[in-house]
Amino acid sequence: MSKTVLVSGGAGYIGSHVTVELSQAGYEVVVADNLSNCDLTCLEGVRKILGHPVTFKEMDFCTVKAVEDLFDSFRFDAVIHFAAFKAVGESVSEPLKYYRNNLESFINVVEASRKRGCAVLFSSSATVYGEVDNPPVTEKNDRQSATSPYGNTKQMCEDILRDSAAAYEGLSGIALRYFNPIGAHPSALIGELPRGVPNNLLPYVTQTAAGIRDCLSIFGDDYPTPDGTCLRDYIDVVDLAKAHVCAVGRMLGGKMESAYEIFNIGTGRPVSVLELVKTFEEATGVKVNCRIAPRRPGDVTAIWADPSLAVEKLGWKAERPLVETLRSAWQWQQYVSRK
Ligand code: UFG
Repeated sequence: MSKTVLVSGGAGYIGSHVTVELSQAGYEVVVADNLSNCDLTCLEGVRKILGHPVTFKEMDFCTVKAVEDLFDSFRFDAVIHFAAFKAVGESVSEPLKYYRNNLESFINVVEASRKRGCAVLFSSSATVYGEVDNPPVTEKNDRQSATSPYGNTKQMCEDILRDSAAAYEGLSGIALRYFNPIGAHPSALIGELPRGVPNNLLPYVTQTAAGIRDCLSIFGDDYPTPDGTCLRDYIDVVDLAKAHVCAVGRMLGGKMESAYEIFNIGTGRPVSVLELVKTFEEATGVKVNCRIAPRRPGDVTAIWADPSLAVEKLGWKAERPLVETLRSAWQWQQYVSRK
């Protein structure tokens, strides 16, 4: 019998890609989402890609009863938790909104899981590492104090899972620390749909290329890096989604070496802001109007993953070439612009 996986926040950008990969790997997937930061566009795309709908429940993970009822209605073998707010700037101006939503929802999920022996996969972020001296970072690198309430919720949720897995017999969990997820499904039926002005680099690039934004600001060209712009590890969203399938397989296959494990999910290759823009232009043949702007407060200079633990233990590695990822993001942008 196939295993059943709950994807909280599965109507969103990363969750919808994970839903596709899990379904294609033979899992039964249930998506639950309160649609607070997305609509049904991606779920509709998931249905087209798979050729059938996935079970969907509109609900809020902050409501204990809703979470308990959901876990009573299905027998989940694992849950992947994405349901969270993610705007760094907004988290600074509205910290309580972030702490309440991101922590309460996760506590409810962990509580429901531990009662029923369901494994928990948490979507964490490389933001927990802060500014590092000598990238690449391994999972052994210390975490730094978070620079935003959003980043703090990632650290706190990691700790909630770590402590719960240590305390409760039968509860196990994995945190995946994503570097910079970008791109879209090769079908161009699902992708990132930022609301309002994008905060992240690639959506801003594609919207500028599409003429929705006038000009991309490159935040700082005086960093101590080869071309003066920041270095990041841009991980293709489909590759990232496949890491979740590997991690669920590890949890459910009894392969974990301790009740709580952490893996970096990145390519291991640093790419500068200018290089990303240039590669996008080469990959798509579309010019991106840009200008150098002052540094953005809170940005770290350079961070990229050492993904060797994921390679060794999850049997996963990033595969999609950057040009393909960038082309997919452009195809998705064009699809969205036509809609
Ligand atoms: N950048 C620009 N112009 C833009 C947007 C971004 O030059 O319009 C630059 C940034 O300065 C940075 C790089 O592009 O050097 C990447 O920026 P993103 O905003 O795309 O990504 P970040 O590395 O800042 O974000 C990551 C994660 C977030 C997390 C954040 C914490 O994607 O989820 O780190 O700092 F919250």
